Amino acid sequence: MKTAVGLTLLSRALALTNEKLEVVGQKPLLHACPSDSILQKGECQDATFGSSHDIISDVAFRSNISQFQQTLEESRKKASQVKDFPWTFWPECFSNENTTDPYCVFTDQSFASGRGIFIITTKDLAYDMLEHDAWRRPETLSRVNKYDSPPFVTHEFPGKGRGLVANKTLHRGDQIFASTPILITDSGAYDLSEAERLALLYRGVDTLPPASQKVFWELLGHFNDDPVDDRINTNNFDVSIDEEAQAAVFPEIAMLNHDCRPNAAYAFDERTMTHYVHAVRDIMPGEEITITYIDNEMERARRVKKLKRNWGFDCSCSTCTAHPSLVSESDTRLGEIAALSTILDDWTIDSEATPEAAELLISLYEQERLHANLATAYKHAAEAYSSFGKKWEAMRYARLSAEMSMLDKGFGDSDVKEMREMSLRPELSWSWKKRVGMGGKSCGCGHGH
Ligand SMILES: *[C@@H]1O[C@H](CO)[C@@H](O)[C@H](O)[C@H]1NC(C)=O
Ligand SMILES: *[C@@H]1O[C@H](CO)[C@@H](O)[C@H](O)[C@H]1NC(C)=O
Ligand SMILES: *[C@@H]1O[C@H](CO)[C@@H](O)[C@H](O)[C@H]1NC(C)=O
Repeated sequence: MKTAVGLTLLSRALALTNEKLEVVGQKPLLHACPSDSILQKGECQDATFGSSHDIISDVAFRSNISQFQQTLEESRKKASQVKDFPWTFWPECFSNENTTDPYCVFTDQSFASGRGIFIITTKDLAYDMLEHDAWRRPETLSRVNKYDSPPFVTHEFPGKGRGLVANKTLHRGDQIFASTPILITDSGAYDLSEAERLALLYRGVDTLPPASQKVFWELLGHFNDDPVDDRINTNNFDVSIDEEAQAAVFPEIAMLNHDCRPNAAYAFDERTMTHYVHAVRDIMPGEEITITYIDNEMERARRVKKLKRNWGFDCSCSTCTAHPSLVSESDTRLGEIAALSTILDDWTIDSEATPEAAELLISLYEQERLHANLATAYKHAAEAYSSFGKKWEAMRYARLSAEMSMLDKGFGDSDVKEMREMSLRPELSWSWKKRVGMGGKSCGCGHGH
């Protein structure tokens, strides 16, 4: 399942920011540690940043509001003196009585052939990331961050701003973007004082390679608070890395505008730390390429409100501006989509789910032009057919779902794996013949999927 819908634009982060702004520490820390250690799990401990999880190296630093232990050049030098040290700069960290582990800024300028990245998180999570293919097998990034001859041009839309327009025909599944993040931040860092959290962000930006710094400063913000925080909060995406929620910034993607009925979908591939954008239907030259910033299955009024609140613009997509009768028709369809999904998720003996209900669901998504969301509708259909023992139809929809799930949920998503398996052997899937003989006493229902 897709864990994060849309860009984050954390009302969460905003709420935290406001909350934390009130407690920014003027008062001394309750547990200041000596300068050769750092507060960790409630105790002052040696801070270790060797080349792996285990190697004990010497000390990093202690919490000292907005003051780093080392200048940039000192921390670069120190990092270069440790054999096989994975980071370009010695990490700077902060911790306090509210953090279990210190939050540090880890920079690798050589990441993704020199695009670079900085990561603000705990040591354990940062070192876990180093185990991913993006670091372990850099050749997996050979087709990533390549924008010499993209399939689009930038275009200035009156009253709407910059956007991207296709300059060649794109088919479903065609890759539009494949980008690695230039930064990843952990919302746990909000437990630091505001000054410390921002100090880590600024240090992070300062440690990026010059080209990536430039790209970062060219991003647009809109909250008008701190310039670095604003750019990150406006442009970040929720991603899940090693089952932890992180926020990542992929600068290219920021050029894609929102549409409630987008022609492209995005997904993060954790293995390669790459954010992909693919066409989910044919896109003609001259068409704007769009993604959705929000859950586009919400009814119009909620979509309009959310876009205004989180990104500050008026929803101008066709389903937002259509005639009230058509808007009402669309909202009704969205209501039916929700109701049908509930029915199809019902695996009790009283379930009204049938393959026909799944076909109706697919038809409603098509009518709504919610192409990417068909990944889930096809899955419902595959399971519904399977549950009535209809092998060939189950295989057909499982195939359709597997492909669309890759585009909308990611190559490594569990739905992709499940649908691939079902497309080969529906008889082996958990749903097989689950609803055969329903109403009788023989139902083996209740898998509760
Ligand atoms: C923080 O670090 C600076 C520079 O090293 C030092 O002058 C200052 O006294 C430190 N403050 C605290 C509270 O330790
Ligand atoms: C589309 O535009 C890009 C510039 O954004 C250019 O590099 C590319 O060659 C163009 N492609 C075609 C097919 O014209
Ligand atoms: C830790 O959390 C408490 C409660 O939210 C807050 O009052 C305190 O200022 C926090 N400490 C720091 C160093 O932020």
